[in-house]
Amino acid sequence: MVRDWRETWEREGYLVVPGIFEAARVERLRAIADGIHEQWIACDPQTGQPRSNPDEHCMRHLNHAAYFHDRPAADFSELMDAVADDLILGIARAILRETPLFRCTTYWFNPRKTSVDGNWHRDLQFMAKSEEEERRRMEAAIAAGESAIQMQIPLVDSDDIEFVPRSHLRWDTPAEYEIRCAHGRANNTSNRMPGALRLALKAGDAALFNPNGLHRGRYHADKPRRTLMFTYTKASRPLFDYFSDQPWFREPGYLDRLTPRTRAFFEPFVAEYQDRWKQAQELQPA
Ligand SMILES: [Fe+2]
Repeated sequence: MVRDWRETWEREGYLVVPGIFEAARVERLRAIADGIHEQWIACDPQTGQPRSNPDEHCMRHLNHAAYFHDRPAADFSELMDAVADDLILGIARAILRETPLFRCTTYWFNPRKTSVDGNWHRDLQFMAKSEEEERRRMEAAIAAGESAIQMQIPLVDSDDIEFVPRSHLRWDTPAEYEIRCAHGRANNTSNRMPGALRLALKAGDAALFNPNGLHRGRYHADKPRRTLMFTYTKASRPLFDYFSDQPWFREPGYLDRLTPRTRAFFEPFVAEYQDRWKQAQELQPA
């Protein structure tokens, strides 16, 4: 099984593992995530402000400590146990060929008002200042076999992700380039991407994809979406940025509510970043 996961991932750039969470666990996670989502709309703990835009379709950091001050400790354990689930970490370890390091939790949900088709992209394009740099980063990622994992687990059935298999191993073909990049990216929401595969997922399935491959989401108000996303990196390739900047892990007792096994998964994350969190907090205006 480990070899199948790894081979499919390396060849295709994505992997679907059906039924990773059973129905009762999906229900529990959905109740918790929806409660956090409602709290975020009322007041985002990272800004202290309500989220008034009805067309937002994702939130980060469901594990922020502020969401659990008034919730049962069991809810926090349930969420963190899911991130550190043995099967999930086994898949992540097989794919990365080393110990996975936690990076971030995300919740995807349908917008409440306006429907849009997502734009085709490779995540590394958002880190590059020019197309030349993007191409260099892509080539370097391929040469190094670089691989981060975005693992999406829908809590209601969803076919909102599209991916172009094998596109993580090469630069765009002319037809792909025409859609993703050309004309100032004016065509990047096209529904005619060659080879695009829409992943039809049942609640509790897991879909993993290499974010350097061509992919996009779909954000339609009339298509219910409630999808958890867990991201992991190689422990040898940590990256400090908005996603890993999670200073609430330093709050006294934050990890004490977890089982020893789950806590053991998050401890290397704290060890890796705690000095950076401290520095970042000290730089913030009082
Ligand atoms: Fe993306």
